[in-house]
Amino acid sequence: MIVVFLGPPGSGKGTQAKTLSKELGFVHISTGDMLRDAVAKGTELGKMAKEYMGRGELVPDQLIIALIEEAMPEGGRVILDGFPRTIAQAEALEDMLKRHGKEVNKVLFFDAPEELIVERLSGRLTCSSCGALYHRVYKPPKDDMVCDLCGGKLLQREDDREDVVRNRIRVYKEQTASLVDFYRRKNKLISLDAGKSVEEVYEELKRLLKDGG
Ligand code: AP5
Repeated sequence: MIVVFLGPPGSGKGTQAKTLSKELGFVHISTGDMLRDAVAKGTELGKMAKEYMGRGELVPDQLIIALIEEAMPEGGRVILDGFPRTIAQAEALEDMLKRHGKEVNKVLFFDAPEELIVERLSGRLTCSSCGALYHRVYKPPKDDMVCDLCGGKLLQREDDREDVVRNRIRVYKEQTASLVDFYRRKNKLISLDAGKSVEEVYEELKRLLKDGG
């Protein structure tokens, strides 16, 4: 089963994908996490991606498609979080899966208004050690700037500055939002109200992902 999480930055895709992978055994593939890891390790990919990410622009399609080709497991239940983000990426994914007799089964669209997104991203904290996600208001850590799970230091992502967030939203509208229609036409799109609480969204997702698809 291959599920795509589609939606604007900060709509909660990563939060839900991390819980679903822990509790329901989905393999979580996040192009954003993979790129941040490459930047932190200073690999060739990281060096190429860093500038784009810092500006809130998309990393070129060919780099991302190569990354996904390598990361896609042979079997199992997979959540693609933050990929595809352009029509070219969606078509490349379709071709790649077709070669293995597979297809995207469901596309969950995290629908959330712009002001909510800005609020969520400006309060987001990420564990520098295990990647766990927090929010200053909605999900504060027990100890200030310390991860509840591993004791790691919590950091604000560089691309969560308000000017970069506004640019990420602009890029989303220009290059990614058209995927909503792309997948709707293929009868794969399921919209959910991402403005609800983390728990409510999780329950809704569990219900939607229950049947094999
Ligand atoms: P990426 O890391 O994918 O960023 P994004 O899509 O902008 O998504 P985010 O991680 O910002 O948000 P999210 O929806 O996962 O929300 P989260 O769960 O964290 O990409 C970063 C960059 O990498 C891109 O700008 C681009 O440069 C590059 N890149 C990545 N993929 C690419 C691709 N395919 N092609 C080209 N370039 C690519 O939640 C946000 C906050 O809200 C958290 O604090 C959380 O605790 C809180 N929260 C979540 N849900 C709720 C809720 N229901 N109620 C209250 N608070 C909530």
